[in-house]
Amino acid sequence: MIKFDYKKTANINVNRIKTSAAKLSAYTTHLQSVVKKKDYLDNESSIQLGFDKELRDEVKKMAKKIGKQKLKNIVVIGIGGSNLGTMAVYDALQDKTKAEILFLDTVSSLKMKEAALILNKLKIQEFVIIAVSKSGTTTETIANLEVLVSLLKQKKADVKKRIVCITQENSKLWELAENKLAIPKMVGGRYSVFSAVGLLPLYLAGLDIDQLNRGAARAVSDNVQKNINKNFSIASAVLTYLHNQKGINIHNTFLFNPELECCGKWYRQLMAESIGKKKDLKGKVVRKGITPIVSIGSTDLHSMAQLYLGGPKDKFTNIIYGKNDTIVSVPKVLNFNGLVSNIKGKSFDNIMNAIFGGVKAAYEKNNLPYLTIELGKISEQSLGYYLQFRMIEMMYLAQLLKVNAFNQPSVEDYKKETRRLLGN
Ligand code: PA5
Repeated sequence: MIKFDYKKTANINVNRIKTSAAKLSAYTTHLQSVVKKKDYLDNESSIQLGFDKELRDEVKKMAKKIGKQKLKNIVVIGIGGSNLGTMAVYDALQDKTKAEILFLDTVSSLKMKEAALILNKLKIQEFVIIAVSKSGTTTETIANLEVLVSLLKQKKADVKKRIVCITQENSKLWELAENKLAIPKMVGGRYSVFSAVGLLPLYLAGLDIDQLNRGAARAVSDNVQKNINKNFSIASAVLTYLHNQKGINIHNTFLFNPELECCGKWYRQLMAESIGKKKDLKGKVVRKGITPIVSIGSTDLHSMAQLYLGGPKDKFTNIIYGKNDTIVSVPKVLNFNGLVSNIKGKSFDNIMNAIFGGVKAAYEKNNLPYLTIELGKISEQSLGYYLQFRMIEMMYLAQLLKVNAFNQPSVEDYKKETRRLLGN
C-alpha cells in the first residue's frame, strides 16, 4: 500500500542503521505485547485503538443518536492533539465528505462570529457541536464552547442537546456532559486520532472509519516487527536519530499534495511535543529536540527552495506524495501560446511528477539527505496507515533519544500561567 524509499538517498551507512535499530529490539518486544492487550493500560496503548471494534460501534451508536443523516455541519472545538488528527484526515479527504467540519481551536472572535452565523442559519438537527478535551480544562476549548453555546442559545433554546463531549472519564467536563464519549486515560491527545476524538467527527462527516482503522491496524502489524526492511517506523526513526547525532536538527516534511498540509501539521505537533524535552528518562536536564517543519510542493519551492538547496545542510527531508481521483489537464489547444513549453495536454499529475523529479534530482545533486514516502491513493486506509506508522515511529525515536514520548510538562507551564493570569 505505502512505499518507503531511503536506501540510496538518506546518506547513512546501512551498518550504522542496523546498529541503532538493534538497540530497539527490547522495545519492539514490548510493543508486540501491548498490541495483544485490550486494556489501554500502557503508555503505548494508542496502538490498540485500530483493533477496537467495540469503540467503533460505540461511535456509530452516538452518530445514530445525533442523527448523522440530517447533519450539514459539525463544529469540532479542541486544540492541539484534540483536533489536528481529525483535521489531517478531513482535509485530505474533503472531496468525499457529506457534512462540513468547522474547527474552532484558538480563541478568535472572527472565527467564532463566522461559526455562530453558519449554525444560526441551520435547523437544530442539522448541526452538532463536538467539544474535545482530554483534560476537560483547556482554556481555549472551554472558552469557545461557552461562547458558541451562549450565542446559539439566543435563537435555539435546545442547543445543549446538540453537544457531545469527548474527554477523559471522570474529568470535570465528563461529569457535566449529557452526551459523552471517553478518551482512554493512557492515550494522550497527539496519539488519539483513532479514538472517539477522530472517529466521531470523521464518521459524522461521512468518512469510512472502518477503513481508517484497518489502515492503522496494518501499520501496527508491520511496524512492531523486528525486521527493519518491513518495519519502516524503526528505519525512519533511526535515520532521523542518526542525522540528529550528526547535528542535523531540522526535520522537513515536504508534502507534494496541498490537501495533506494538515497531515504535516499533525506530525509537527507529534514530533515537537513527543521529542522536545527538557529532561531525559532519568530526570537529567538534557534539552533534547528536533525542529519539525512542514513544506508544500510545489508552492513552497517558490519561497523555500533557495534556502533548502543552497543554504545550510541542517535538514533531513521526508518527501511525501499520494494520488487522488480528480485529474485536471492543460488544454490541448493553448490560449496563451509560447509561454511555457511542453505543457500542452499534460495532466496536473504529469506536471507535478516532473517538478517532483526535479526536486529529487536537485537534492541528490547537492548531496542533501531525504527519504520518500509514496502513499498510493489518498484514502481512509492509506491515511490510517500513514498516521499510525508515524505515531509508532515517534515512540521508537523517543527511545533512541531517551526521552518520554507521552508527556508534555512544558506545555503545562504555559497552561498553568494562563490560568493564573486570568485569575488576576
Ligand atoms: O497532544 C497533546 O497532549 C496536547 O496537544 C493536547 O491535546 C492539547 O494541549 C489539548 O489538551 P486537552 O485535550 O486536554 O484539551
